[in-house]
Amino acid sequence: MGSNFESRFGRAATVGAEAPGRVNLIGEHTDYNGGFVLPVAIPQRTRVELAARDDGRVRVWSSARNRSGEPGSYALGAETPCQDWLDYVQGVTHILRREGHALRGFDAAIESTVPLGSGLSSSASLSVSLLRALREAFGLKLDDLQIARIGQQSENEFVGARVGIMDPMAVSLADEHTALFLDARSLEYRRIPLPPGADLVVIHSGVSHGLAGGDYNTRRAECEKACALLGVSQLRDLGTKDLPHVDTLPEPLQRRARHVITENDRVLAAVDAMQQANLMRLGQLFYASHASMRDDYQVSVPEIDLLVELARTEPAVFGARLTGGGFGGSVVMLARAGSGRQLADRLAKAYAERSGCEPRVLVPMPKQS
Ligand code: GLA
Repeated sequence: MGSNFESRFGRAATVGAEAPGRVNLIGEHTDYNGGFVLPVAIPQRTRVELAARDDGRVRVWSSARNRSGEPGSYALGAETPCQDWLDYVQGVTHILRREGHALRGFDAAIESTVPLGSGLSSSASLSVSLLRALREAFGLKLDDLQIARIGQQSENEFVGARVGIMDPMAVSLADEHTALFLDARSLEYRRIPLPPGADLVVIHSGVSHGLAGGDYNTRRAECEKACALLGVSQLRDLGTKDLPHVDTLPEPLQRRARHVITENDRVLAAVDAMQQANLMRLGQLFYASHASMRDDYQVSVPEIDLLVELARTEPAVFGARLTGGGFGGSVVMLARAGSGRQLADRLAKAYAERSGCEPRVLVPMPKQS
């Protein structure tokens, strides 16, 4: 990526930092229920170039988000939500200062290849790359876990999205070859290598979800309501043996709880399948997870369902599912090794013709022209 910092701010940046996006293999809407997730990093990244200022002002320019071309600007300590991308930056400085970290003003240029609203954690990628750059510029005492927690707090408390810990943890700790099997309650994690013999495919449907996700917050509130009626503090406390009891809840709460409980089970089964390189089994779990998100959690959209159904017609695909929060976004697939590139292009073409949307193949990463 070129030096947008110099052309925007007329001087050289002193630090640069990056963070990837992530794709969640399985374990959706389980993190804020204290459950299990299995994300892996993707090649798309956010890069932040930054230099300190002598005053307390922050000026930030973002290639993806600054339509006007002018940097967003605010005074440290006077962070105020403005319902746009700058809230992710303001949220980070707000939480850092509140936690007692000494910051000065700074100029920053942000460039990202993680598409916004794609279900691939463009926001966590922004927060974590910014936190890494600030850590370096101001010598902040922060480890990767603390960075993840601040990323989540910033979105929860400042931006107004009640997201879980999965995305900042994945973005801060995962890499492209090993999935992060995370217990979102204890934050214990294990690294699980991607099975040999499979290509990962990620296609953005071209349907983007919104910024502070009202529907997402509604799902979270429904889970809390289900917990209150079931007398548990988190849905993680229940297992498949409790499903008959869950089925006595009113709709839609029983569906929501059923998804979370069965999805936690599927993550554990998926980890086993990955360790045994059982790709057929892993693929079945992907399809089952998708059906549960579509029918029980009700976070899919017709375009995403179409993409998953088209994937089913490809013999080389082991499994496919909606990934991320839903209401648009991307589909993750596992395909026979060596088939991913061609298959992804074929599926994207068929999907574009049928849906009228503009899909983007993100993994395998298209060759740079
Ligand atoms: C979004 C949130 C995550 C998680 C997923 C759904 O990506 O940021 O915390 O809840 O949705 O699994």
